[in-house]
Amino acid sequence: MSTQQEQPLSLNVNGRTYKLLVEQRDTLADTLRNQCKLTGTHIGCEHGVCGACTVIVDGEPVRSCLMFAVQAEGKTIRTVEGLASGEKLSPLQQAFIENHGLQCGFCTPGFLMLTTAALEQNPDLDDDQIKDLVSSNICRCTGYQNILAAVRQAAGVMQASRQAAE
Ligand code: FES
Ligand code: FES
Repeated sequence: MSTQQEQPLSLNVNGRTYKLLVEQRDTLADTLRNQCKLTGTHIGCEHGVCGACTVIVDGEPVRSCLMFAVQAEGKTIRTVEGLASGEKLSPLQQAFIENHGLQCGFCTPGFLMLTTAALEQNPDLDDDQIKDLVSSNICRCTGYQNILAAVRQAAGVMQASRQAAE
């Protein structure tokens, strides 16, 4: 039931339009999880430190715990649920599996969205740039080496497919 604080909101997520009622204080992370039922976006620290809640908004990685849902109206939002094409995993998802880039998996959607956005912008990231990139998200149960290996592998796949398309 609508309350006085709620307002209608239309969100474009993974190519689908969601017609919602939200309060102005609702974060994008909570709205994606609780209203759109896209629970792949995880919430850890809720204050912009861990990166578990990272989604892609208009091509940029965004910490969805720091963005109000109403700020996302009219923008194109992508979550981890939109990375695969049917049964075909994205190059990064495949590389995370092949390189054992996760243990508990709680941080994984955030890493996937962060690195997807970065590699889509520039698949030619060098090792130092990849290290710098993944250092912005927190994984509490790996030594980051396998995550780095996964991102390197996916970068190679994306470079090759870009060259093949040229
Ligand atoms: Fe958003 Fe940690 S839950 S940065
Ligand atoms: Fe467990 Fe990253 S795989 S926190």
